[in-house]
Parts: sequence; structure tokens; C-alpha cells
Amino acid sequence: MLIGIPRESKPGETLVAATAKTATQLQKLGYDVVVESGSGEAAEQTDAVFGAADVRVGSAEDVWAADIVVKVNAPNDDEISRLHKGATLVSMMAPARNPELVGKLADARVTGLAMDAVPRISRAQSMDVLSSMANVAGYRAVVEAAHEFGRQFTGQVTAAGKIPPARVFVVGAGVAGLAAIGAASAMGAVVRAFDVRPEVAEQVESMGAEFVTVDMRSEVSSDGYAGEMTEDQERATAAMYDEEARNADIVITTALIPGRPAPELIRAETVAGMGNGSVIVDMAAANGGNCDLTRADEKVVTDNQVTILGYTDLAGRLAAQTSQLYGTNIVNLFRLLTPEKDGQLTLDFDDVVQRGITVSNDGESMWPPPPVEVSAAPKQRTATEPAEAPKAKPEKPRDPKRKWYAAGLAAALFAPAAAFSPTEFLGHLTVFVLAVFVGYYVISNVAHALHTPLMSETNAISGIILIGGILQVGRDNLLVTALASLAVLIASINIFGGFLVTHRMLAMFRKG
Ligand SMILES: NC(=O)c1ccc[n+]([C@@H]2O[C@H](COP(=O)([O-])OP(=O)(O)OC[C@H]3O[C@@H](n4cnc5c(N)ncnc54)[C@H](O)[C@@H]3O)[C@@H](O)[C@H]2O)c1
Repeated sequence: MLIGIPRESKPGETLVAATAKTATQLQKLGYDVVVESGSGEAAEQTDAVFGAADVRVGSAEDVWAADIVVKVNAPNDDEISRLHKGATLVSMMAPARNPELVGKLADARVTGLAMDAVPRISRAQSMDVLSSMANVAGYRAVVEAAHEFGRQFTGQVTAAGKIPPARVFVVGAGVAGLAAIGAASAMGAVVRAFDVRPEVAEQVESMGAEFVTVDMRSEVSSDGYAGEMTEDQERATAAMYDEEARNADIVITTALIPGRPAPELIRAETVAGMGNGSVIVDMAAANGGNCDLTRADEKVVTDNQVTILGYTDLAGRLAAQTSQLYGTNIVNLFRLLTPEKDGQLTLDFDDVVQRGITVSNDGESMWPPPPVEVSAAPKQRTATEPAEAPKAKPEKPRDPKRKWYAAGLAAALFAPAAAFSPTEFLGHLTVFVLAVFVGYYVISNVAHALHTPLMSETNAISGIILIGGILQVGRDNLLVTALASLAVLIASINIFGGFLVTHRMLAMFRKG
């Protein structure tokens, strides 16, 4: 089948749906690919770059006559009319907000695959264009804010005086929010962040920000997205937004509930109370904005010198990288749709991902797809399950003198050993006992995150034991030989088992 990559018709669009690298990957799946001349100019993918990678560059007619047309933005009426009956169109479509588009594709007997409808499940992450774009956009939002902000982000003590670090407040800790937190922390700012989903607190902290809490009951989401807030929750958060925004130099808002207009969170009164020179980047501008004063695609400067950026093309401002990510998401989708790698696209509607993205097929509208449950939310209790787990048997309180009894026993065992053993043995035993104590206290205080390096360490120690054991095996004393052989055996199990486990862990990350 032939895949056509057209030039985007949306004014000012910098993105292209395939780069030379991803077009080559599509060819490896058995497809022929034709790219419209000039389509990748703004993303550093000139005709020469495609030509050098043996990707055919053709005219608009060549591209729109293809069996499958892959683009970034939803097609306009003219573009739909250029597709032939039975063709497949792959692009972002916002089908929930564009029912007419779905109808037009069905009427034209075109199979529509919406890249922005990929369900948020782990298996589909490699095709999730919204995450790819939000990730780049979150980073770019910080860069835009830094450009507008009249001071640097990182704090410094200089001969000319102390520079405080910039204070950044991020609203919404989804993909874009977390990327913004990471970028701002890396630039040295002090970052605070809030999200209505309490389960993201750990991710926020791991990216280097402090999670702001509000006294309200929120439930873990069942689908990876936030639900609508109750009135009480809204009141509680409004006061927090006001306080946090007034204390911040930079506010980056990313709050969104899919399928709804963006919630208005930063009020005009709050902006009026913010410091002179502060910056708000409203990433939700395309959906109405999280700030009262945002205007989509514009820079607004208020009377008190607060700059509000409502740019909706943040991902497109890093065109080369975003096009590469978008193209890779497309390749991953085609890997799924071309199981035989024979250049033939097949759709399996029993697969939630393939069904989820199909908006029209065979003259029929297929939107909306059946809902997909996607989160690691706790399992709902069924009526037959007990309300509470049976209480465990109360533990017997520990005898406080236990430690002394254990010490007494150890001393009783040590005394005859000390009295009747050679001095050399006593020295070894002392080192051994001390090593046990030191090892116990060191290892029990190692954080979970460092357990993998700890395993490497124990492998190294096993190596020393192995050499020691091999040196002792040939001794005349039978007991020494037996103990040395045992040490060699156990250390070998640890070393070779370690290699085996590492190999299996690495295999989990290998492709193919
Ligand atoms: N401007 C651009 O160029 C650009 C590019 C990409 C994405 N975006 C926009 O960025 C926004 C975020 O995208 P995303 O992929 O990170 O979405 P996401 O769904 O991953 O994250 C949105 C987050 O907002 C949170 N949220 C919802 N309501 C909230 C509220 N009232 N208060 C606090 N948090 C709330 C959600 O819990 C979620 O964590 C979207 O509006 C998207 O359209 C903009």
C-alpha cells in the first residue's frame, strides 16, 4: 500500500507527519511512501533530506491519491474531497469535539483513524501523540516563561548581592505539567505544583517539586484523567490558587478534563494581586484557558505588568523534535496495524486500541468507541466482598529483656570458643562478627531505589568470597575444605544468578 504524507494546510503549522527516519521505518514495514515536496521544511526535513534517505518526494496529487494519507491536523473539506473511496486517513481529529468531521469522513467512505483518541493504557503509550506533544509543550512553556521573565531562574549569591531563585507554580500534573516541573526544577527554580488527583503527588515530588495539598476529599481516578470537582472542592482550591499564584513569579497552567472546556482557575483578581513582571503560561488556552484573562495564541500584558501567554503551538515551536516524536508514534501504530510487515493495513476491532482510534469505517460513523478502563485505581469492592478485611490476631507484646537474653546467649557461645580456639581463629571470628553488624546496619538503611546498585555490590563481595574459597579448598583440613567448597558454591550461585536476573531484566527493555 502507498502512504502519502501531505504538507499541512493549517496556517503557520511547522510540523510534518513523517521525518526521513520514520518514513524509512514505514518502508521497512512493507509500505511505499511518498512525501509532498516542501512539507518538512520547517521541521528540518527538506526534500534533499528525504531524498538522501531514499524516500520518494512527490506532488500534492501523488500524496492525496495514496491508499493511506497520514497528517498531523484534521483534514479540511477540500482535503477530504481529494481522498479516494476506501482510503484511510490518519491524523489528529479531536473527534469528541468534531462530530461533523466524523460524519464527513463516513460519507466519503474514508476510514478515519484519530491519533488523539489513543486510549491512555500502558500498551498504547508508544502511540500516544497527545503525550508526546504535551511533553515537548510543557518543556517549551518553561522556556517561553523564562524568555519573558526579567530575571534568571536559579538562585545565586554573588559579590553584587543575593539573587533569589524564581518561584514557579504548576497547575495540573499530567504529562505537560510534569514536563514543566522537570524543566523548571532543572533550571534552578523552586517549584510547587497542584493537581486534583492526589495519586500524582509522588510523581510531582520525584520531578523535584513540592506538592501543594488542599484540605478536600479527592478520589483516585479510575481512568487516568481527573473528574469534575464538587462545589466544596472548588471553594477550597480557589483560595489556594489565589495564594499560590500571588506568591509565584511564574504560573504554568495545564488543568484539563478531557471533553470539557478548561476549568477557569486563575481569576482576574488573582492576576491583579500578582507581582510586577510575573508570567503566566496558560497551556490550556486552546480549550478556553485556565486563566480568566488568557487569549488564545496571544501575549497579554496586564496593567500591573503580568504577562499572560496563551500560545497553542508550543509543541510546534520545537518542530524538528515534535515531528520526530509524532512520526515515531505513527510508526508504532503501523507496526500494530501491519502484523505481517507486508505493507497491508489491517484493522482488528477486538483490540481496544484499534477500535478506540477508529472514528469511521465502511461508510459508518464509529465514534464514540466503547469506554476503556485504564487506571491502576484500587479495585472496587463488590457486594459479596466483606466490608473490611478480618482483623489480624493481636500480636503478643515483645519482651523488652529479649535483647539481653540474646546477648547473654551469644556471650555463652563465644566464651568456650575464645578459651579453646587458636588466636588466629579468634581474630577471624571478631572480624566476621563485626562485619555482620556493620553489614546489617548499612544494608537495612539503604533506600529501595538503590537496591539495584546494592545487588551489584553484593556480587562484587561474592567475587572476593569466591577467590578466598578457591584459595582454601586445597587445605589439608577436611573441615576447611568443606567450608571453602560451600563458600565457592554459594558465591557462584550469587554471581551467576545475578547475571541471569540482570540479563532477564534487560531483555524486558529490548525491542523485538
Ligand atoms: N499550548 C500548547 O501548545 C499545548 C500543547 C500540548 C498540550 N497542551 C494542553 O496542555 C494541557 C495539559 O495536557 P496534558 O496532556 O498534560 O493533559 P493531562 O490530562 O495529562 O493533564 C491534565 C492534568 O490536569 C489535572 N486537572 C484537571 N482539572 C484540574 C483542576 N481543576 N485543578 C488542578 N488540576 C486539574 C488533571 O488531573 C491532569 O493531571 C491540555 O489543556 C492540553 O490541551 C497545550
